[in-house]
Amino acid sequence: MPSRVIPRSAVSASAATPQAPVSALTAKFSSRLIAWQRQHGRHDLPWQNTRDPYRIWLSEIMLQQTQVSTVIPYYAKFLARFPTVVALATAPVDDVMALWAGLGYYTRARNLHRCAQAVLEQHGGAFPASPEALAELPGIGRSTAAAIASFAFGARATILDGNVKRVLARVFGVEGFPGEKKVENAMWTLAESLLPANASDDEVSAYTQGLMDLGATLCVRGKPDCLRCPFAPDCVANVTGRQRELPTSRPKKAVPTRHTYMLVLRDGNAVMLEKRPPSGIWGGLWSLPEAADEAALAARAREFGGDGAVSRLAPLTHVFTHFKLDIEPRLAELDHTVGVLAALGDADTAWVALSDLDSFGVPAPVRKLLDALQGSLI
Ligand code: ADE
Repeated sequence: MPSRVIPRSAVSASAATPQAPVSALTAKFSSRLIAWQRQHGRHDLPWQNTRDPYRIWLSEIMLQQTQVSTVIPYYAKFLARFPTVVALATAPVDDVMALWAGLGYYTRARNLHRCAQAVLEQHGGAFPASPEALAELPGIGRSTAAAIASFAFGARATILDGNVKRVLARVFGVEGFPGEKKVENAMWTLAESLLPANASDDEVSAYTQGLMDLGATLCVRGKPDCLRCPFAPDCVANVTGRQRELPTSRPKKAVPTRHTYMLVLRDGNAVMLEKRPPSGIWGGLWSLPEAADEAALAARAREFGGDGAVSRLAPLTHVFTHFKLDIEPRLAELDHTVGVLAALGDADTAWVALSDLDSFGVPAPVRKLLDALQGSLI
């Protein structure tokens, strides 16, 4: 095996940039992967065993967000209807869209047609061989360009799709969410440092296919099959039992907190409820009158006949999907002895007996609060 140079940037540490740890595996990675791919990888997918860039490009675009088993019949249909890039480029876009129907992510189909036209118009109908030129074409990103260039032209270029990110994060112990730019950049650098040097076209193909096969068949997200993995003895995740923690998940967004004051206006064993607007949180449910601050809440209590005096009840927090709601309940007591259950003449407000809450749709935390109040009255 020829010796290779490991770029310093892939292995040196800096405080700001996540880096893969230095690994003795780096120099052996590609030869081990190629040997594994040849023995245990996939060899009979319909887009393998060809160097035709058109066929390879078509398969890579279809496989971008879609499983192999779904792609296979579409791939066959497309090749039968459009056997060459020129046939595709000169077909009406509606025909392409119709044939794509069911594969999803339809931007891919529009870009497929635009890309075929660009290959025809800008490259005389022949796909360019370099990953850089391929990446200029519609719908071809850096990883797809590398896949096409390596499979079709034996180019020494690395792929880095979601599966490969998972493999690298586990094997080399790369920390950080791979969707984050600086983590992704570190992974590109690492992936490039692992490419086989002085490799034949076949070795390059086996290497690229090996990355795909390892991620799709052994180093899967749920239950990786580490016992059969050629990297198991060196894999950081396997050795440290961190397969479930690597790659690092997308950081949870901090959930914002909103605050509200709720008025528990009580008259005997009845409280006043307000019907909420039809949309928004608790849309259409019956809840307690609210205000943004204590003074506004006291003003609302006066509106309903109170003297403005309020007392604190135990605060509570309710967690919604996108935010938390801190509720500060305040109790205001009225002392009417008659007519407490009479409607206020407004269909959106009602005096409701605490024992009759079941007849009203009341949000769960408000119901809890009122049940506690009723408990305290018994
Ligand atoms: N996913 C993306 N490209 C692929 C390929 N060439 N073979 C199998 N799965 C893939």
